[in-house]
Amino acid sequence: TTEPPIPDPALVVLVGASGSGKSTWAQARYRAQEIVSSDDLRGVVGSGRHDLDATDDAFDLLDRIVAARAGRGLTVVVDTLGLDGARRRSYLAQARAAGLPAVAVLVDTSADVCRARNTARDRPVPAPALAGQLRKAGQVGAELDGEGWDLVVTVRSDDGVRSAAAPVVS
Ligand code: CTP
Ligand code: MG
Repeated sequence: TTEPPIPDPALVVLVGASGSGKSTWAQARYRAQEIVSSDDLRGVVGSGRHDLDATDDAFDLLDRIVAARAGRGLTVVVDTLGLDGARRRSYLAQARAAGLPAVAVLVDTSADVCRARNTARDRPVPAPALAGQLRKAGQVGAELDGEGWDLVVTVRSDDGVRSAAAPVVS
């Protein structure tokens, strides 16, 4: 299956539970400088990628990087969970302000696969936290449809790709 073309430049927001394959998807398609990752920035301003105490500082930096790149009309891929509606609306607004297409990429991987990958990782997300993410991830597709994205692409990293394109709204 082929994925639908994603405009470039664009502001791309990844959406999916931990272990769904967001970072893997982005790294296969975009240059490292085009991807801004909240985990990486926790490692920059905190003691490591998993230093949750550094979350606020990491997201402050992330927002500034998104604004700077979008302000120059450059592609930026927001590699966070993407499950918080208020954060998504803020990225969507930044895309609009910059005149960039706003694209949401929902990495819709089954809960079983996310849990299995999580268990196999060095620093697994605690099971209750992952359960909360998976619950939100199960509802987020319907939310995205009403948010005004120029394009919503749904990819599944466990069995290829499904996709749905919304009409471009300008
Ligand atoms: N993975 C895989 N096959 C894929 C995608 C991912 O085996 N098609 C594996 C990766 O190698 C990694 C794990 O699944 O070990 C999680 O993938 P990652 O892309 O890091 O998931 P994220 O959604 O980015 O997880 P997080 O939110 O925790 O960053
Ligand atoms: Mg990731």
